[in-house]
Amino acid sequence: MCGIVGYIGKRDATPILLEGLHRLEYRGYDSAGIAVVRDGALRTAKCKGRVRDLEQVVPPRFRGSPGIAHTRWATHGEPSDRNAHPHLDTAERIAVIHNGIIENAAALRRRLEGEGVAFRSETDTEVLAHLIAAMPGESLLERVRAALRLVTGTWGLAVLDRDRPESIVVARNGSPVVLGIGDKEMFVASDPSALVRHTKSVVHLDDGEIAEVRADGFASSTLDGGPTEKVRHTVTWTDESFDKGSFTHHMRKEIDEQPDAVRATLSGRLEPRFQTSHLGGIEMTARELLDIRRVKVLGCGSAYIAGLLGAQLIEQLARLPASAEPASEFRYRNPVIEPDTLYIAVSQSGETFDTLAAVQEVKRKGGRVLGIVNVVGSTIARECGRGIYIHAGPEVAVVSTKTFTCTATAFALLALHLGRIRDLSTAQGARLIAGLKALPEQIGAVLAQEADIAGLASQLARAEHAYFVGRASGYPVAMEGALKLKEVSYLHAEAYPASELKHGPLALIAPETPTIVVLPRDDLFPKNISTIEEIRARKGPVFVVTHEGDLPVPVDGVMRVAKSEPELDPILLGLPLQLLAYHVALARGCDIDKPRNLAKSVTVE
Ligand code: F6R
Repeated sequence: MCGIVGYIGKRDATPILLEGLHRLEYRGYDSAGIAVVRDGALRTAKCKGRVRDLEQVVPPRFRGSPGIAHTRWATHGEPSDRNAHPHLDTAERIAVIHNGIIENAAALRRRLEGEGVAFRSETDTEVLAHLIAAMPGESLLERVRAALRLVTGTWGLAVLDRDRPESIVVARNGSPVVLGIGDKEMFVASDPSALVRHTKSVVHLDDGEIAEVRADGFASSTLDGGPTEKVRHTVTWTDESFDKGSFTHHMRKEIDEQPDAVRATLSGRLEPRFQTSHLGGIEMTARELLDIRRVKVLGCGSAYIAGLLGAQLIEQLARLPASAEPASEFRYRNPVIEPDTLYIAVSQSGETFDTLAAVQEVKRKGGRVLGIVNVVGSTIARECGRGIYIHAGPEVAVVSTKTFTCTATAFALLALHLGRIRDLSTAQGARLIAGLKALPEQIGAVLAQEADIAGLASQLARAEHAYFVGRASGYPVAMEGALKLKEVSYLHAEAYPASELKHGPLALIAPETPTIVVLPRDDLFPKNISTIEEIRARKGPVFVVTHEGDLPVPVDGVMRVAKSEPELDPILLGLPLQLLAYHVALARGCDIDKPRNLAKSVTVE
């Protein structure tokens, strides 16, 4: 949510910052801006719109160092030129870019206005620029520190001082800040994707930390001034892995990457010798795992839905009561934390604020939590301290596809592990291992049916509303299908448990409202056929995602996947729905990689 990038060193900051903003644009894209110091003056350019719009308004010979730049996802104040970051103080000495929300911004604004400050924007961030300028202190570091002591809220912050161009000051509280270490130059960003072109050596700031970044290094401390020890991490993702390659959209590329991504999730983790999985990162002994009585999965959006699938897998294979809950709800309801419950936090980015807050709530109350995360070294991964990295590679499209599939696969590995410690037999373990091994090729076969799915999408694209229904493990598949469709194509889509249809939503079934039914060939197949009959009786068009074999009822469209083991079927059944959403969005002319109002990685409350 919002992207921050900064540079200090001998080179001209402008091209480095603009290129970094392109990498970060998936984090927010309603406005963008840049500030550099040159010849004792701050030079700034900013505008509503995308980074390409900013490039049009950056004047020729806009050069300098140090510099900071920002791509915005609006919280306070509509997207506009004047609300775009950086924000400056009245004397145009201090420039601030900020991710997060200043909760006492209104009170601070009133106070500053009382002191004669005239505000130029509606943002909470501008408060910080004036506040820092008003603080006493010899150095920029002291001023920022003093200002932050007056502020409540969340921040990932980078600050420039026209009169002190030897450093950039950055601070973190609830919104990520990472430092990139170069050769006599330093980089600052809200995530490493903006840095990997220049350096692989990074340091993550922790909440409550502030750092003075100079060309030759950095010094970090707490807001009270106590020095902090930092550990360097090496980023393994390459710059090229963030490119679209020959694809027109990141979403399509990431759908296509799923066979390899799932191979990476499984790599080195299958133990055919003992018909189980090997998950070193969970750092719990068999004895500790045996003591678990319950599992609770926490995540937001697609991560929560993958958690619903995961909870079902754990319940089926390990016979442990398991459930999933949106992390955003969990953290606010004063949850009971049980010592014999294993809490699992799911997050692609590892930065989602609500999921992080839920992890902190569990830990604060003495609970055990492990993470299922994609981004190595991310905040949630570090906060959990143990878990499973899904190794899906960078996901740049705002909507999740490959990370959903890989998270579900990671849950299958965990469920197998927990199951084999309990009552799951060696024969059952061997069956699941064979099923998991077959997944990458089966995924490839589903994706090969793209042309047929695109045909169905052109029919669906004309609708205004759609229902997705499924039973048992088909229900999370339906939920994810509906979420993908609505966020990427803006077609209003709702998911319902199939059995609930007649308890209300059936009232809305009509010839112009299609229903997509998740129809695996399992014990519930006849029940799902009855649901289809009920829809057809109201003249509702029906599309199904199902396995091979004849259907006992006529339907308006069929998407097929290979049969896996019953527990793993949902992983494959979800894939055609990703392609369906993509092609509906394409047919409707939507901005697929950057859906309106959304941003990857929601680092605000
Ligand atoms: C949906 C989507 C979002 C994310 C959610 C959690 O396509 O991408 O719903 O799943 O914002 O994000 P992470 O997994 O980064 O915590």
